[in-house]
Parts: sequence; structure tokens; C-alpha cells
Amino acid sequence: MRRWRLAARVCGAWLAAAGALRAAEPATKEFIWAIPKAELHIHFEGTLEPEHYLELAKRNALPVRYATAAAVRQRQRDGRDLKSFIEVYEELLSVIRTEADFREVTLAHLRRTKAQQIVYTEMFFDPQMHTERGIPLATVFAGLLAAQAAARDELGVRVEYIMCFNRDRSAESALAILEASRPWHRRILGVGLDNPEEKDFPRKFAGVFARARSLGLRATSHCDVNQPNTLAHHWGCLDELKVERIDHGINVLDDPALIAAVKARGIGLTVCPTLMEAEIPGRLEFRAKAVKQMLELGLLVTINSDDPGLMRGLLVGDLMLAVHQTVGLTKAEIVTLAENSFRIAWLPEAERATYLAAVRAAAAIK
Ligand code: HPA
Ligand code: ZN
Repeated sequence: MRRWRLAARVCGAWLAAAGALRAAEPATKEFIWAIPKAELHIHFEGTLEPEHYLELAKRNALPVRYATAAAVRQRQRDGRDLKSFIEVYEELLSVIRTEADFREVTLAHLRRTKAQQIVYTEMFFDPQMHTERGIPLATVFAGLLAAQAAARDELGVRVEYIMCFNRDRSAESALAILEASRPWHRRILGVGLDNPEEKDFPRKFAGVFARARSLGLRATSHCDVNQPNTLAHHWGCLDELKVERIDHGINVLDDPALIAAVKARGIGLTVCPTLMEAEIPGRLEFRAKAVKQMLELGLLVTINSDDPGLMRGLLVGDLMLAVHQTVGLTKAEIVTLAENSFRIAWLPEAERATYLAAVRAAAAIK
């Protein structure tokens, strides 16, 4: 018996050593694909592919600004900033009108996630952009929730929702949506902020966020990359909005005090090392290096796809691979990224533990 125990101990130590050796190996596409992961920064409206936009416009008999998918992509190549990106985004979403459309667009995306083992998604949506077009909130929620049920039953993947307010709309409008959406608050995880950063961001939304938190909703906010006053915006999100995560958040690296605060408070960072329709020199390198540095600093960094419909259709696995090909990631770093995605997900603890165990199990057999 004792001999058996000793053998088991030696064997365990050998396995741990072999595991450690494998962990230090460079990542591979096969390894990246096999690890279960969560997507935490993706916009429902940004999942719509240009081809699907044209199909929905035809079905709903709506006029379109872009007659072909190529024209949409060309327009994205010509755009240079977030404002022009959002112009195209708003044109594309204008064809999503019925409950069935909301369901179909969500499911079209989730169907694509399965192959890359993106088993859990927290998806943003922008209700103001829909109610402003005369779409009832009830239609938006009915479509999104129907997709959630179908994803669970038909695809075996899970999606939850985060309701975003638009930073270029008023705080009053955000508050009105927050109150109007109360019948569905138990069906969403929390609130976020997106669209271009305005000069009164984030203070403008402090009251709305306090109200959302008092209603039991969790809070995150975009701090887009290299925006004017970015450090003040990051600090404001932490101290005034009291967010638990920052979406993008790369400029945290520009301020040692911010790095320390983000680390001490356990703030998650949902970085998007995305590729745009246009090749922008240095963009991916900059974002990939930030991911690597955040990993080295022990920050809770994750890799996310943001708006795959307008960003070459690339998903979390594709982007982990792109980062690996740019700065080199070890298998252990891929595992950390996947673990982080579940650590900072807004999941009940028992479910978080189940996902984390699945990551470790997949890493061990690879
Ligand atoms: N930033 C701001 N607004 C957005 C984004 C983003 O990354 N994607 C869609 N809306
Ligand atoms: Zn985003």
C-alpha cells in the first residue's frame, strides 16, 4: 500500500513536471481552439455581417445606404475614427426590426462561436438605438431572450446580456431606458457604456450608474483606446461609476497608480486586439503587446472580439491566435487568458468553478 502511494506521488510529480514543460511551450491553434473560453466584450449590433444586413433590409423592405457588402467594407476601410465606425454600425442595425430579427442575428453569431469553444458569452446591446427607431423595448428583449433559450437548447452555448447606454446620448435618456427596462432586469446581468467618449464622460452617468447598482445590476464601462483624457476617464469609471470591469482599458498601462488600483480592486479588462477592415499599421502589435504586458503584470486581462461583423468576422479564438502570432504566447498564457475570462465573468460561483475546471481539464489533455 505504502509502495503504491509512493509510486503515485512520483508519478504525480512527473506529471506536474511534464505539465509545467507543456505549459511553457508556445501556443498552437489546436491548443487555443480546444480550451473553453468566455467572450465578454461583444456588441449584439456589431455581430451583424454586411451580407446579413442586406438580407434583412430586403426582407423588411427597407432602403439601404450601402448596396453591397463590399461597399460596407469599403466604407469601413475609409473610416478613421470611432465616430465614423459608429455611423456604419448604426446604418447596419437599422434593418433589425422584428423580434425574429433580433433572435436571428444573435443566433447567427452564436452558431459561429461553437467551433472555437466560446462556450459562454456576455453580450452588450444598445436599447436606445432601437427605441429611437420606434422599436418597442419588449420586441428587443423578446428577440434576445428567445435567442438565449435557443442557444442553450439547440447549440449548447450560453449567452447573457449587458444593457449599454450610449455615451453620446443624454443621462436622462439613459435613466429613462433603465426605468423602462425594469420588467427585464432579472434577465440581464448589468449595464455598460459605449459609443464615442464625450467630454463629460464618465461623470455624466454617475447618477444612472448609482441607480442601476441600487437596482441590483452590475456595472462595466468602455474606456476606448487612446482617447482624449483617457486616464481621467479610467479613474472616473473606477471611482465615480464604480465599475467592476473596464472594456478595452489598454491605457491603464500608462499610469502606474492605475495599474496598482486595477490590480488591487480586481478590475477585469476586456481588451479587443481586433483587426479592422483596413490594415492599420502597428494597431494589432500595440494591442497584442498590451495583452502580453498585462499578463506579465498579473492583471485580469481577457481577449474579446468587440464587433466581429465589421471586423473581418474574427472571434476570440482567432484573436488569441493573432496575438500569439504577433507577440508569442505560451500555452500557460492562453490558459490564463481563458481562466481570466471566467474569473471576471458575471457568473454564479458554482458555475464559475465548473467552467474553470473545464479549462484546466482541456489544458491537461492537450
Ligand atoms: N467602443 C465604443 N462603442 C462601441 C464599440 C467600442 O468598442 N463597439 C461598438 N460600439
Ligand atoms: Zn466595444
